[in-house]
Amino acid sequence: MPHKILLLPGDGIGPEVMAEAKRLLAWLADRRGIAFETEEALIGGAAYEAEGVALSDASIARAKAADAVILAAVGGPQWDNLPFHLRPEAGLLAARKELELFANLRPAIVFEALIESSSLKPDVVRGLDIMIVRELTGGVYFGEPRGITDIGNGQRRGVNTQVYTTSEIHRVARVAFDLARVRQNRVCSVEKANVMESGRLWREEVAALHAKEYADVALSNMLADNCAMQLLRNPRQFDVIVTDNLFGDMLSDEASMLTGSLGMLPSASLGATDANGKRAALYEPIHGSAPDIAGRGIANPLAMILSVAMMLRYSFGHGEEADAIETAVQSVLNSGIRTGDIASPGHTPVGTKAMGEAVIAELDRLNA
Ligand code: IPM
Ligand code: MG
Repeated sequence: MPHKILLLPGDGIGPEVMAEAKRLLAWLADRRGIAFETEEALIGGAAYEAEGVALSDASIARAKAADAVILAAVGGPQWDNLPFHLRPEAGLLAARKELELFANLRPAIVFEALIESSSLKPDVVRGLDIMIVRELTGGVYFGEPRGITDIGNGQRRGVNTQVYTTSEIHRVARVAFDLARVRQNRVCSVEKANVMESGRLWREEVAALHAKEYADVALSNMLADNCAMQLLRNPRQFDVIVTDNLFGDMLSDEASMLTGSLGMLPSASLGATDANGKRAALYEPIHGSAPDIAGRGIANPLAMILSVAMMLRYSFGHGEEADAIETAVQSVLNSGIRTGDIASPGHTPVGTKAMGEAVIAELDRLNA
């Protein structure tokens, strides 16, 4: 049975990096006999222009029917003034919510060849390998009540609600503990238990689950502000970080910059496994649509390529091919091939397509 994949190229540089994902899927089919059946749909601003919404019901249905979704990027300045529910980001939030993708895995890995691109000293980030597990379908992103209301006298009131339940906390913490067991066996749970009731509940529920099912894993707690500071002070103290939707949004951006380039980092968003063993999953680079360089063929496709590797590993059990892709990316970087975002002074950067082809050439070499 071929793996059914829905491709959502989206906006800006999205279609350009998606082309490199397709090149890689074709290689995997051709050279490794992994069969894919791909379909494409619109999301974000592109969907708004063509279909009037950032993700249509028909596209949501196709995403649900697929074994995995690959998303490139959404957004652009031309849609900045749309109401929230029509903005490109609404398509992304709808995909997360509709597919119940509650666990967002955001690795922050430093490639030795790029160590000079980090804004931190090489000795602080060398060998860095953090996995941030961000809760993705709850918290202040989706909590009710929300809205802006008129309260008279020319005053308005803006409200959002931070809310978590026991089961929401347990299911994402489970993902973090399970990952830790195949990594360095350490989880740091991050909240603001000193100020927020939802944070206190988070800490208590993570501790309860830990005591009951994961006592073999080393668990620590950290306040979110301290975590932001510790990520800069000594990032290698972390193995797996588990945190809520909003703190995870911010801390994962911070962690990504430790690695030197947003253009390098993939992500996976996972749902629960159903009775048939199927798990909803969406893979996307963590960089955005980069409207400033869109259409020029210069975007870095490596985060997209590494997202395909995550898909092979987490959705399809093809760990060997996932490893091969990651090794190929490393070799390409070691050989000095760079896109503009990661180029060092004096080196001529290559474009999106040339970078994609370089990874394929390296895979061919490894596969020979
Ligand atoms: C992310 C992004 C999104 C988020 C935006 C685009 C809605 O920043 O995936 O981290 O806030 O979750
Ligand atoms: Mg973000």
